[in-house]
Amino acid sequence: MPITVRKIHKLFGAEISGVDIREPVSALVFGEIRAAFEEYSVLVFRDMPMDDATQIRFSEMFGPLEIAGKANPGVGTPFARQSNLDIQTGAVIPPEDRRMIYQLANYFWHSDSSFKHIPSLCSMLTARIVPPEGGDTEFCSMRAAYDSLSEEMKAKIEPLVVEHSLIHSRGLVDASVLTEEMRAELPGARQRMWRINPINGRKALYMGAHASHVVGWPIEEGRALLDELTRTALKPEFCFAHKWRAGDSVLWDNRAVVHRATKYDTVKHKRLMQRTTIAGDQPTVPH
Ligand code: OGA
Ligand code: MN
Repeated sequence: MPITVRKIHKLFGAEISGVDIREPVSALVFGEIRAAFEEYSVLVFRDMPMDDATQIRFSEMFGPLEIAGKANPGVGTPFARQSNLDIQTGAVIPPEDRRMIYQLANYFWHSDSSFKHIPSLCSMLTARIVPPEGGDTEFCSMRAAYDSLSEEMKAKIEPLVVEHSLIHSRGLVDASVLTEEMRAELPGARQRMWRINPINGRKALYMGAHASHVVGWPIEEGRALLDELTRTALKPEFCFAHKWRAGDSVLWDNRAVVHRATKYDTVKHKRLMQRTTIAGDQPTVPH
């Protein structure tokens, strides 16, 4: 039985049904899912509540998983936890706590682990506890963003390499959320300003909140270009919001989209999402 693929947005995104991803998936069916991933960049699976074991099994079909670093409560496990609940006690974490401030950078468009020498392929986020309002995740097609650039701008960014770092993105909120130990773990990495899909050859703009500056340019000039592209190329018509229901899983291509969290009342409501991140297989530029 082939899977059913229903488009979500005219440019990208698809809801996949006709397969239970909590069960082992055959190579044939996985091939269809993988093809949909290459084509649509964001895949949504509904009404299949995942636990940690099923999420790991399905995620690993895409490749080896990244292990969460020191800055995330899931440190040492394959899970980056996005939540306002204390991992030990389950109690709501107050907004002024470092762990909540750390998550504020998720409100900026970004591509997960673009600050790593080998950036990730994709991420899978599963909704365990969802607030009654707010807390959507928005996605924007960086293929559409790239395609919308003038030929002149495409030529300008073609050779550009950008320095990405978690220190930069967290600094946008509050530089003190990272300890010396966390900083030392992630020195940052250089990435080309675009990525190309090896299967279909489509190019995507590659930047986001971890992108600090253009290598070899005066810092402010590079930042101005990154800001201009964020303002002009990430058009609202290239983006959509996923409104979560508990039991949803969303898998996105970090090579082809950026995403961001939206606000919810973190004092009144509970939200628990578990993210697995599938490692990439090569750097975007020679180092
Ligand atoms: C992530 C992320 C956004 C959200 O898990 O990588 O950016 O809405 N999450 O929780
Ligand atoms: Mn993210």
